[in-house]
Amino acid sequence: MNFEYEKIKRILEFIKEKTNFVPDIGLVLGSGLGDFVEDIKVEFIIDYDKIPEFPQSTVSGHQGRFVFGLIDDVKVICMQGRIHYYEGYAMSEVVLAIRIMKLLGAKILFLTNAAGGINDSFQPGDLMLIKDHISCFVPNPLIGQNIEELGPRFPDMSKVYDPALQEVIKEVARKLDIPLKEGVYIQYSGPAYETPAEIKFFKNLGADAVGMSTAVEAIAARHAGMRIAGLSCITNLAAGLSSAPLSHEDVQKIASQTSEKFKNLVQDSIINFKNR
Ligand code: HPA
Repeated sequence: MNFEYEKIKRILEFIKEKTNFVPDIGLVLGSGLGDFVEDIKVEFIIDYDKIPEFPQSTVSGHQGRFVFGLIDDVKVICMQGRIHYYEGYAMSEVVLAIRIMKLLGAKILFLTNAAGGINDSFQPGDLMLIKDHISCFVPNPLIGQNIEELGPRFPDMSKVYDPALQEVIKEVARKLDIPLKEGVYIQYSGPAYETPAEIKFFKNLGADAVGMSTAVEAIAARHAGMRIAGLSCITNLAAGLSSAPLSHEDVQKIASQTSEKFKNLVQDSIINFKNR
């Protein structure tokens, strides 16, 4: 008996009793990027706090609900607000929603986040296509009894971010004339921002942007066989790279200011993922 999988199945059944919507794509909206749902033809919404056994999102700027709806004719399930490790949840709870989206039917997962820029060429307001990640500063979400129904004990992570989906995002960015950076995302636990010495260290490791969320979600999704796309909104230069102190308010402000090009890029990419 796998207790985690039993819990996942109970939550899945609870949601399926409320809606028969079968999503094609799961979309996780990062800090300050939640207003994306305004552009979705909404079919059904459920708040996390209405779902028994489901972890709650405690971060300001993260609403905490699943929004089911259509972008053009693509069926999406959006997480407006995600669960972070620094909120005190076990990693199995942090990635629970990813597994639910997969089991509801989503084959593709589009992960978005706000991140600090480490690469010298990045500016606040830039968008970065995630090409790979470094997750070894947080626990692996697959630690514990393997859920065989989802994926193998030792899943391959050599191509976490789907090459064909990356091409679509790059093509769409070119068409929309949206400058797009590319790079490696490193996940740090938070909730404190990093120190300048940590950022120097991360840069030496090959990281281009730092955040507190996405890599573990990508690992759980890849384990479960989802195809993954990732996009970071660079909301600030990482610690020590500018004289300004870092604040969550500034992160949210820059993310909202970037939301127009972000929305356009994410929407058109999702529509174009269809045949790829
Ligand atoms: N560090 C970690 N997470 C972040 C940052 C940062 O500088 N900016 C936005 N999320």
